Formats: sequence, structure tokens, C-alpha cells
Amino acid sequence: MSMREKIEAAATRYPNQRSAIMPALLIAQKEHGYLPGPVLEEVADILGVERIWVYELATFYTLFHTEPMGLFHLQLCDNVSCMLRGSEELLKHLETVLSIKKGETTSDWLFTLSTVECLGACEMAPVMQVGDDYHGNLDVARVDALLNSLRVAAAPPSNSEQASTQPVGE
Ligand code: FES
Repeated sequence: MSMREKIEAAATRYPNQRSAIMPALLIAQKEHGYLPGPVLEEVADILGVERIWVYELATFYTLFHTEPMGLFHLQLCDNVSCMLRGSEELLKHLETVLSIKKGETTSDWLFTLSTVECLGACEMAPVMQVGDDYHGNLDVARVDALLNSLRVAAAPPSNSEQASTQPVGE
């Protein structure tokens, strides 16, 4: 199903086209990875709404990205509970080991680092969201282990792994 078809199908569940902008943006972002200007205009055209309405929502909510993102979006909570339990130190550590500042993406396009408001998981502060997953009770060692596991997950399988998954006889 094309992006247009997905957006048109989603829009049927809403009372008017303007209400469907949020789900349409989510669909477009999943399709393109982020929401550059031409994609925002395409979403507006598909829904038949004012382009400015689409731009307003895409630039207001932190879940939408109008710039290219790394493969993993690291969203470190810097609200009170997490701050009291060391998120500032974790942010400095992340900036150091990744050689970027918050808001930036690593040169290998693996990680984009952001700080966010309360993730609603204060009981396991400090917390960082990566994709759809929450990682809590973080310290420097756990952050390092998480980064390593993400790097491994992103790495292409080695030749020996590929060979071991080949069906016997091929
Ligand atoms: Fe960080 Fe609530 S303050 S999850």
C-alpha cells in the first residue's frame, strides 16, 4: 500500500481531514524516516488541508522530525526525577562518548541525541527512550552497555553468521 493509500485509509476514521493530520504525519514519517518540506506538502495535498496546518503540527510535537535522524533516537529525560538521579551526568557522558551535543546526530548516522520532558516512568529514573523502548535505572555503565548493544544490533551480519543461517544444501 502506498503512503497516499495509507493516509487516505487512516483519514476515513476521522470526522474531518484536519483531524487526520497527526496520523498522516506518523505514516509519512514511518515511510520516509523524517518529514522534509516536500513530504509535508504531499501530506497536505493528500488530505486537502492547508499546508500551514501540517507545518504547524510537524514542527510543534517532538515526536515529529523535520531533519534526518540517526538510526537510533536517544531521548534522555531531563525532568526533575531524572535530573535528581543523575540525568545531567548521563547527558554529559553521552555527549562525550558520541562526540555530539544534544540535538545532533553522529557522523555514522547511528545515534541522534535529544533531551525530553518527563517520560512518565519516574519510578525508574533516570530514563531514556530509544525507539519504542524505555531504559531505566540508568548509570554510565548501563548507558555504555546499551550503546554497545545498539551498535551490535545495527551491524550487518558477519559472513559466518550468514553462512550459519543458510539452509543446508545451498
Ligand atoms: Fe524522567 Fe519522569 S522525570 S521519567
